[in-house]
Amino acid sequence: MSTPDIGIDLGTTNIVMTYGKKGVVLSEPSVIAYNKCTQRILAVGKEAYQMIGKTPAYIEVVHPLANGVISDDLLAQCMIREFLQKVCGRQLVKPRIIICVPSFITELEKRAVGDCIISSGCRKAYLIDEPIAAMLGAGINIGKAKGHMVVDIGGGTTDVAIISMNGIVTSHSIKSAGTQIDHAIQRYMLRRYKLLIGEQTAEQVKMKLTNLYDPREDITATVKGRSVMRGLPDAVELNEMELFNAVEDEIFAIIEGIKKVLEETPPELVGDISENGILLTGGGALLGGLRELIHRTLSVNCVMAKDAIHCVAKGTGIAFQKINNLLDGFEGVTVYKYQ
Ligand SMILES: Nc1ncnc2c1ncn2[C@@H]1O[C@H](COP(=O)(O)OP(=O)(O)OP(=O)(O)O)[C@@H](O)[C@H]1O
Ligand SMILES: [Mg+2]
Repeated sequence: MSTPDIGIDLGTTNIVMTYGKKGVVLSEPSVIAYNKCTQRILAVGKEAYQMIGKTPAYIEVVHPLANGVISDDLLAQCMIREFLQKVCGRQLVKPRIIICVPSFITELEKRAVGDCIISSGCRKAYLIDEPIAAMLGAGINIGKAKGHMVVDIGGGTTDVAIISMNGIVTSHSIKSAGTQIDHAIQRYMLRRYKLLIGEQTAEQVKMKLTNLYDPREDITATVKGRSVMRGLPDAVELNEMELFNAVEDEIFAIIEGIKKVLEETPPELVGDISENGILLTGGGALLGGLRELIHRTLSVNCVMAKDAIHCVAKGTGIAFQKINNLLDGFEGVTVYKYQ
């Protein structure tokens, strides 16, 4: 009996799973909530995310990943197991799983991801480099001697890579991404308006009001929080220009990172990239005006991946068809000993 194969994009902010030919079947925050006294798991994903900042002391809500790598093995394992159960139900034959890993992580960190997947319950596990998965997910043929560039702006990190002939030629990881942008907004509101705002509020403002290309002062949004001076609820009208000022350091750190990779890339491949453009993936790629800003600053075209948040996961699903063809990026981990 065979079971469909599962592709997993285990991100710092979101976990996305594909199931056989069905494609993406699960996309939820990578968060888990548990009772500290009984150690019982209370919720994962969306349900756990809604608990952030609203729980009594004995309940802890944890992100078991930080900056693209597993920071809490046990909780990551529990979280993945819960999600696998949601997707597969209780099946006798365990699935094969491909999970993607950032290109910059160490062998030890890769091993931790592999072990985590194996103990969450699978028949066989494979790892694939995230930039390769992103390219496959966007439907790009990476088997030829042609340079392609991908910039994956996630929650914890921005990963930049140049790919040619199924392998990574150059890559670089930048510690500026979605979460750091949220924090920059929180810092700005505190500094400028003495208004304390939560992470979720900062994220909502970012999604709603960011305009990195031509920010205006007359487009505004209301931001609610707590006044530090009075200790009471307060609200402020924030405009696009102010938001741009709040996040520009993080954004230009990303653009500098892209520039650095381009500078380190062999000239033949740079020619290909200016022809093909830069592929943008990850939730952060959806920041208003980012594509245009990169084009204006670096004079290289950018192409937004279709369904940018799910692109990497789709690529891991597609990778099953290419297990024998890819030269680089795959690593058989171990065979699950099913009893
Ligand atoms: N429309 C949007 N505009 C701006 N940012 C967005 C939008 N939608 C999602 N994001 C941001 O994208 C980030 C999550 O992206 P993604 O799911 O690709 O990250 P991840 O894969 O979990 O993280 P990583 O790859 O760093 O491990 C969050 O910071 C979120 O705020
Ligand atoms: Mg990601």
